[in-house]
Amino acid sequence: MRYDDMTEAIGNTPLVRIDPAVHGLVNIDLYAKMELLNPFGSVKDRAALQMIRPLLPGAAERGDTVVELSSGNTAKALALIAGMHGLPFKSVTNRMKVPEIKDLLLLLGAEIEELPGQAECLDPTDTEDPLSRMHATLSANGSGYVHTDQYFNERNVEAHLHGTGPEIVKDLDGRAPDYFVACVGTAGSSTGTARALRQHDPDVRVIGLVAAKSDFIPGIRTIDEVHEVGLFDPGVYDTLETITSDDAIDGLLTLVRRCGTPAGPTGGGAFQGAVRHLRPIDATLTSRRTAVFIVCDRVESYLSYLRERRPALFGRPSRRNDVSTLTAEEIAAAPTVGVEEASRRPGLIIDLRNPHAYRALHIDGSINIVDELFAELLHGGLPFGRRQPVLLVCPVGEKSARYAALLRRMGHLEVRSLAGGVIAWRDAGARLVRD
Ligand SMILES: Cc1ncc(COP(=O)(O)O)c(C=O)c1O
Repeated sequence: MRYDDMTEAIGNTPLVRIDPAVHGLVNIDLYAKMELLNPFGSVKDRAALQMIRPLLPGAAERGDTVVELSSGNTAKALALIAGMHGLPFKSVTNRMKVPEIKDLLLLLGAEIEELPGQAECLDPTDTEDPLSRMHATLSANGSGYVHTDQYFNERNVEAHLHGTGPEIVKDLDGRAPDYFVACVGTAGSSTGTARALRQHDPDVRVIGLVAAKSDFIPGIRTIDEVHEVGLFDPGVYDTLETITSDDAIDGLLTLVRRCGTPAGPTGGGAFQGAVRHLRPIDATLTSRRTAVFIVCDRVESYLSYLRERRPALFGRPSRRNDVSTLTAEEIAAAPTVGVEEASRRPGLIIDLRNPHAYRALHIDGSINIVDELFAELLHGGLPFGRRQPVLLVCPVGEKSARYAALLRRMGHLEVRSLAGGVIAWRDAGARLVRD
């Protein structure tokens, strides 16, 4: 194999059969499309190359900066490709939540601009959202940027329509699989691959996987966020199912420990989601079927994510006072207050949002303790007196309700969560201030 540059090594990843002794399916052959073997480490290498290729000559001529709204694999691949052409790369994001990935991007020479806001994929109807404003700036002619625009760029889908999908068919001797399972981030890989497979067999069942509400699996959307993605077309999926970070880590451990596959959390989630979906079908089958899932990237970048969620794996004691240990009943019983009552008797107001969002707008007198830091504080015990009235605030009132439930369990009886969060406060016309 001899190449002129590393981008020629993108694609043509192996399709590897998972040992039935591991997945336990009797009538279904389960294969993993090993996208972790792309040269820059993920499924996003394909989309990055396909999106940037036509923009490179103009960008090189003008000395433009390549820019993308990404906190992970797309940014990594674009930073490497831009570097190969002597171009700077800038990643704009509001969710740089995995420290190893941030460090890696900096090492690759990327500039990182962190913005306030809710979702990384912008809502074009919300012109006030900092990401939407940034999007408009980037897309303007003569901005000095070339913007690959992964959430809206059809070339993201085409990378998989012409690459990932046909490769799977070729490796299955010209047949499409009966089931195709993929996690959904920008929706590019699932949409493009599904389209290619259905060109061979319109009956392919496509299972899209997203993270459960309020959960976090790096690289993919939650069930609430997915509808904001420009490329997301619900018609692509026969079913859209949720996976939890626990499912993703369980699957990751199986792939890592039993399958010789150092997969990241979404690869693990895809495996787990595939087996969960297929198990009841398998029991009814009388002839053989084939299923394929995507292993998007590698495990090494997620050690801190795993350490935080499964300390025992690293020989550390399990965490006390952790929101992940709350039951659904405890969360449902979290003490909440509406805007009117909260503004009458606020007490100590703790805003759990990121510092950028806090700086942009917050409740007067509130203090900012970002939720990851607040979680750390609580592991050590109550950081304030039991009788101190506390109002917890987050974007929409979901995270703050969990922490309120946890504080309740820890014996703090004067805690409340602001129902509807800062959004409800703003919509009620209550006063917000800017730093
Ligand atoms: C780790 C990981 N898994 C899955 C995906 C989903 O891929 P897509 O954006 O094609 O939906 C991504 C996308 O960034 C990712 O980074």
